[in-house]
Amino acid sequence: MSNQQFLRTATRIAARPSYIQLNHCAALPAHRRISSTSPRAITSSQAQRNKSDPLHGSSTATLGKPGFEHEGTQARTDDSIVVEYPEQGKFPQEPTIQGRGGPHLKRTLPQFSLEGRVAVVTGGARGLGLVMAQALVASGADVALVDLNKEEASTSAQALIDQFHKDNPKSESYDRAKFASAKKEGIFRVPKVTAHHCDVSNPTNVESTLSEIVSEHSKIDHLVTSAGFTENYDAISYPYERMKKLWGVNVDGTYLFATGVAKHLIERKAERGSMVFIGSMSGSIVNVPQPQAPYNAAKAAVRHLAASMAVEWAHLPIRVNCISPGYMLTALTRKILDENAELNKTWTSLIPMGKMGRPEDLMGPVTFLLSDASLYVTGADLRVDGGYTCT
Ligand SMILES: NC(=O)c1ccc[n+]([C@@H]2O[C@H](COP(=O)([O-])OP(=O)(O)OC[C@H]3O[C@@H](n4cnc5c(N)ncnc54)[C@H](O)[C@@H]3O)[C@@H](O)[C@H]2O)c1
Repeated sequence: MSNQQFLRTATRIAARPSYIQLNHCAALPAHRRISSTSPRAITSSQAQRNKSDPLHGSSTATLGKPGFEHEGTQARTDDSIVVEYPEQGKFPQEPTIQGRGGPHLKRTLPQFSLEGRVAVVTGGARGLGLVMAQALVASGADVALVDLNKEEASTSAQALIDQFHKDNPKSESYDRAKFASAKKEGIFRVPKVTAHHCDVSNPTNVESTLSEIVSEHSKIDHLVTSAGFTENYDAISYPYERMKKLWGVNVDGTYLFATGVAKHLIERKAERGSMVFIGSMSGSIVNVPQPQAPYNAAKAAVRHLAASMAVEWAHLPIRVNCISPGYMLTALTRKILDENAELNKTWTSLIPMGKMGRPEDLMGPVTFLLSDASLYVTGADLRVDGGYTCT
């Protein structure tokens, strides 16, 4: 990788003058500030006054000849930033379980429970997918972790079960089918968590993985598509093969799993099913300064796939929603920001809440959108971004 490359480029980002400093309206003479209540038309006397204004040239003229610095340059993307997604096995290490999802005695609505459900989480071996899987297990679901990295997915599946035992010492392993109500009074059933290898961008792989999951769990009720990645290259330099892979994992992967699970739900005449696609705030805004056009477009596609499939399947008991996270502190981003305080400051200064999100901040949103607590919510995009996209 790229980790080092990322750090080098991160340093370059931090070294650039902050584009926020260019927001210098308040420094302009009063007659040159635009009032939101006054008409914007410029009268001839104003035009005359502007001509003699020493700031006129630099503040209103567009000096935007190609290749030259001009107003707004610092608010755009920086082509020198190049970040490649690490190869499998080269990710920074992180604790397997990051989220808090243990037992509690506080009352909440029963509709939030996923007791007796089976959920598939793509990209579930690590990062946001794993933490969301933990939320589903804590809410009573059995979970199938699907990932390119089967070994890590298996370790994570075991870690989820171990954590469940720790949180629920009185839990027991028993066959759900033998207990009609899916409950043994006073005892929590240890969830079944399985790991499956799959390249989500490969249709044949997806089909066989779904059959494998159905044969191990008997059914599927829910899907979370978290397999996805981002890279930074300027649009002109983006290696075409890498771009195709990025779209393949983020878009095709979401599409293939969603249609496969919908087909299964329809065939088994499921009473209800629901899906959550993991998009990104980048599907609605353009991040600066790192260039990432294909990722932004891919996440816009993911968001709109959720809306389109929600409408297409609205007559069935299948709901589809999207979660669009902002900047989240996963192992990769944490490593970079820990080593670069300036970059941390630059990114967080753009977030109204003034801090990056924790992976566990997605536990509530994903549980809500999958569960019966959101039965009339479909086609929604829930932004979990600390307010980033409001500004
Ligand atoms: N981390 C953030 O700040 C952030 C912000 C917004 C959106 N997202 C989105 O959230 C999702 C998860 O991101 P993350 O930060 O947890 O990433 P991550 O890299 O930590 O985890 C992604 C997982 O997907 C798996 N994966 C990659 N390619 C795959 C493929 N072809 N088939 C199957 N699995 C594959 C990886 O092995 C990994 O386990 C992604 O879709 C990402 O775009 C992340």
